[in-house]
Order: sequence, then C-alpha cells, then structure tokens
Amino acid sequence: MDELLAWRKEFPILEKATYMISHSLGAMPRGAEDALREYTNVWATRGIRAWEEGWWEMPLRVGDLVGSIIGAAKGSVAMHQNVSVCQTIVTSCFDWSGRRNKLVTDGLNFPSNEYIYYGLRRQGARVCPVESADGMTLPTERIVDAIDEETQLVSVSHVAFRSSYVQDLAAITRRAHEVGARVVADLYQSTGILPVNVGEWSVDFATGGSVKWLCGGPGAGYLYVRPDVKLEPAATGWMAHARPFGFEGGPIEYADDGFRYLNGTPNLPAMYAARTGYEIVNQVCVDAIREKSLRQTALLMELADEAGIAVRTCREARLRGGVVTLDVPNGKEVTAELGRREVLVDYRPGAGIRVAPHFYTSDDEVRRTVAEVISIVR
Ligand SMILES: Cc1ncc(COP(=O)(O)O)c(C=O)c1O
Repeated sequence: MDELLAWRKEFPILEKATYMISHSLGAMPRGAEDALREYTNVWATRGIRAWEEGWWEMPLRVGDLVGSIIGAAKGSVAMHQNVSVCQTIVTSCFDWSGRRNKLVTDGLNFPSNEYIYYGLRRQGARVCPVESADGMTLPTERIVDAIDEETQLVSVSHVAFRSSYVQDLAAITRRAHEVGARVVADLYQSTGILPVNVGEWSVDFATGGSVKWLCGGPGAGYLYVRPDVKLEPAATGWMAHARPFGFEGGPIEYADDGFRYLNGTPNLPAMYAARTGYEIVNQVCVDAIREKSLRQTALLMELADEAGIAVRTCREARLRGGVVTLDVPNGKEVTAELGRREVLVDYRPGAGIRVAPHFYTSDDEVRRTVAEVISIVR
C-alpha cells in the first residue's frame, strides 16, 4: 500500500494526465486556487490595512515554510521572484576587484547562474568553472581542489538540472570555509524531493524556486542566508533598510534581521499561490518523498534496461536525484508524441527525455510512461 497516493485527490491534473514532469512544473494543488481567492479578498476588503495585517511580513513568514523543508532557522529565508534575482543579490555582496576574486562554479550549474557570474567579470571576478568530463557527473574532489585562498564564492548546484546528479554540499562547504570562502547552493532540483539541511551543512547562501518539486507555481523564488552572515548586498531596496518607513535617502543602513536581503515590493500573489504546495510537502515529509522517489526511479531504470533504452542518470542512490533521463533516438519528437498521449515529460538537449515521479505518482504511471516510450520508439 502506497499511502502517499492519498494526496492525489489534491492535484486536479492527475485525473487527466500521467504527470511525470514535477522537476519542471509540479502539479497545482487544489488549495492554490483558494489561496489566490484569499489574496483578492484581502485586497478587496482590507485594502491598505493588509500591509500591517500580514503582507509586510509575508516574504519571511512564507519563507519560514520553505525554511522548515530545508533545515533553515526561522526568519532566515526570504521570498523573491526567482533564482536569477537571488543569485544577483548574493553576488552583489562581494567586492570582486581585490586579490580574492575567484568564483568557482560547478560545471553542472544552471545556465542563468553562469550568465550572472560571467557578467561579474567587468567588476574583476575570475570565473573558474569546474567542468564535468561526461556532462552528467562531477566528483566532489574536483570542486574541492579548485577552492583556494583567492576564492571568494563557490557556487554549487545541489542536484544537477540535466542529469539529477547529487553533489556533496557539506564537503564543499567545509573546504570553502577552511580558506575563508563562501558558498551559494542552488537547491532548485533538491528542495522537496530529497533531504536538505542548510543549517547542519553550514551553507552560507541557498536559493531555489517553487515551480518544481514544491508545487508552488511561478514567481516565488527563495533566498536563505545563514543568520550570522551579515553582508551588504549592492542589489537592494527600501524594504532592506533598518527604518524603511523613514524613507531616508543616501546610502542604505541595512536591517539586522531577515529583511536585510530584501529589496522592493514583494510578489504577493505568487506567495499566496505557493504556500499550499509548501504546506503539503511539509506534511508529506521529505524523507517519505525521497524513499518513494528512490524506489520509483529504480523501477523506471529497471524497465528502461529491460527495453534496451539508454539511461543517463547515476545508478547509485546516493548520487541520484528525482529524475531519470532516458536517451532515445529523436528524443524531442518522442517527447512531443508522449504529450499527445497525455504523458507529460520534457526533453533537454545533451541529456534526453527527463522523467520524474513525485509523491503523487503511482507505479502504474511509471510503467505506462516507459511502455509509451517503447511503443513510440518502435
Ligand atoms: C537548478 C536550477 N536553477 C535555476 C533554475 C531557474 O531559476 P529561475 O527561473 O527561478 O531563475 C532552474 C530551472 O529552471 C533550475 O533547474
């Protein structure tokens, strides 16, 4: 008996589609609709008073719901629009013009992170990518070896978006701290599908979004900053001021608490929409999600092996995130045909068809997905 299947009724799309794409867009929980209605009701009936009745604090209170999934202290996670914004805030905390100007970046990182890092070269940053030999894996020692006394920041994708390879964040953070460098972790592909504990691992910054495993929809990125890390982001705004309602001009005096890394007016509707997904993931519990995910990704690989389909995902459970990548000829066209058959997956060039069960997926859906791939390929 798979008790997690009881959650299926909360996700309307599961009635119609075989939904194997939660690494890209998690299914919408029914409660998100009510939450958005609550937003418009509050706006309509409370008007300007809504700010002091919860809206002002919302980036941190909603952040706490993410915080309890990633092992962060209360008040240390703030909501922003997306990962790209969060990475811009983090990298704006540093002076890149001195001798300590190295930015070590994991070669499996998400491209927009790299775009931001390369943009820092005009401020003096030396971007040092640690390339993956096979485009799929990247031994932790390779990143550890690239970190030295000239390193300012190390950027790591906890789970790689293309191959779902799991990186050892704790070991990298230990090495970075030995030489006085900071770590920013991209948790987008790990939060909500495998255990994360930023507090225990002592990560300095972590960021991610809600679109995928958290089933929270777009526009709700989050930024964790270790509570003792009090830097001064150049990318800032009035909400980060110690006295925002003083409207004081000149250089900013930063707030001492979690507001420090905020900027301007937050994306409230996105936070309302995202809350339900976070609450469900908190209730289901990530350990149970991970256990099921490991079982179903193993089943996917077993079925693919039987059919002679190449798998471009790590076999070892410890190194495997929530996605299995199937490498078949004409993967893009196969993906389009799967969509016509109501089996939703996606395709990434250089990898293949990405398939992901989540806590609401049945074993029958896993079997159906592979059977449809086989039928289309044949
Ligand atoms: C690992 C990872 N980082 C970042 C992103 C994109 O982040 P955003 O669109 O929030 O900037 C994605 C997903 O698309 C991703 O998989």
